[in-house]
Amino acid sequence: MTADQRSASSRRRMDLAVASWHIILLSLLVLVIAQGTESRDVPSDNNIIQLPSSNTESIGDHDHHQSDHPKSHMHHMDSNNVNMVFFTMEDMEVGKTMPIYFPKIDPSTSPHLLPRDEASSIPFSLKQLPNLLKKFSFSKDSPQGSAMEDTLKQCESPPIKGETKFCATSLESMIDFIRRIFGDDSFSVVATNFFTKSSTTFQNYTILEMPKEVFSPKMVACHTLPYPYAIYYCHYLECENKVYKILLGGENGDKVEAVAVCHMDTSQWGRNHVSFRILKTEPGTFPVCHFFPAEHLVWVPISPTSM
Ligand SMILES: *[C@@H]1O[C@H](CO)[C@@H](O)[C@H](O)[C@H]1NC(C)=O
Repeated sequence: MTADQRSASSRRRMDLAVASWHIILLSLLVLVIAQGTESRDVPSDNNIIQLPSSNTESIGDHDHHQSDHPKSHMHHMDSNNVNMVFFTMEDMEVGKTMPIYFPKIDPSTSPHLLPRDEASSIPFSLKQLPNLLKKFSFSKDSPQGSAMEDTLKQCESPPIKGETKFCATSLESMIDFIRRIFGDDSFSVVATNFFTKSSTTFQNYTILEMPKEVFSPKMVACHTLPYPYAIYYCHYLECENKVYKILLGGENGDKVEAVAVCHMDTSQWGRNHVSFRILKTEPGTFPVCHFFPAEHLVWVPISPTSM
C-alpha cells in the first residue's frame, strides 16, 4: 500500500470513526492468551475470537468522573441512544427487559491495530496534531480531524485519582500495560459477543439467564477511541468493580452475551454524570453498571480455581 492509498483508506475508515478487530489481531490475541495461560484450560472468556464486529464510541468509564456527558466521540450518534447502556444491580434478574444500545459496524472497513514497530514510527501526541492531520489528509475542522484531536487530548489528560491509564497504539503495547498492572502473565480477556448478525443497534433486550460474575479482583478496561488506526484507551481503577457476562435476547431475535461492569463505589463521580440522570440516582448511593460495546475489552486475572 502506498502512503496515499493508506491515508485514503484511513479516511474511509475514519468516516466510521471506529476501530475494530482485525483477523491478525485476533490470532495475535489468541497467541498472547495462550502464552499467558500456558497450557492451562483457558476459560470460555476466549470467545473474543468470535467477535464479529464492534463499534467505536467509547461510552467510556473515562468520562465518568469528570464530565457529565461523554460527547466527545459522538459526532454522528444519537446521544440519547448512546447513553442507553446503564443499569443497576437490581436490574440483573432473569426476565428483566431493558432498552440497550449496542453500536455495530463493519469490521472490514474499520481501523485495525498496527504492529508495534509501525505504530511507534508515527508520533502520537497533541503537539504533533498539525503534522498528523497532514499525514492522514484531514482538515482540522473536519469531524475526523476533531476526533483525532479529542482522542489525543483524552490520551494526554492526567489520570484521575486512583486511575492508571494508557493509550495503546498496538496490541503489544496493550499487553505490556496489562502485564504491568497484573504483575504477571495470567490474565484473560472478555468482551461482548454477538451470536447473531443484524444491524439493529437499539432495542429492548431481555436477560435470558442468571448473569455470571467473572473473577475480577482487578480489571483493566480498554475502550476504542476514534483515530485513523486503532487506539485503545486502557485504564485500571483501584476502586471495586464487578464484571458480569449477561446473556441477552433482543426483540428481533438477536442473541448477545454482553459484558457489563458494575462500579461499586460511585461516590467520587461527578453529580452530573449521565448515568445518574438515566438511573435517577446520585453519586455514592447505588452501584452503576454499564454494558460494553463489542470491541471494547475487559482484561481480568485468571481465576486460581480454573487453573
Ligand atoms: C421497549 O419496550 C417498551 C415497552 O413495551 C416500549 O415502550 C419501548 O418503546 C421499547 N423500546 C425500544 C427501544 O424498542
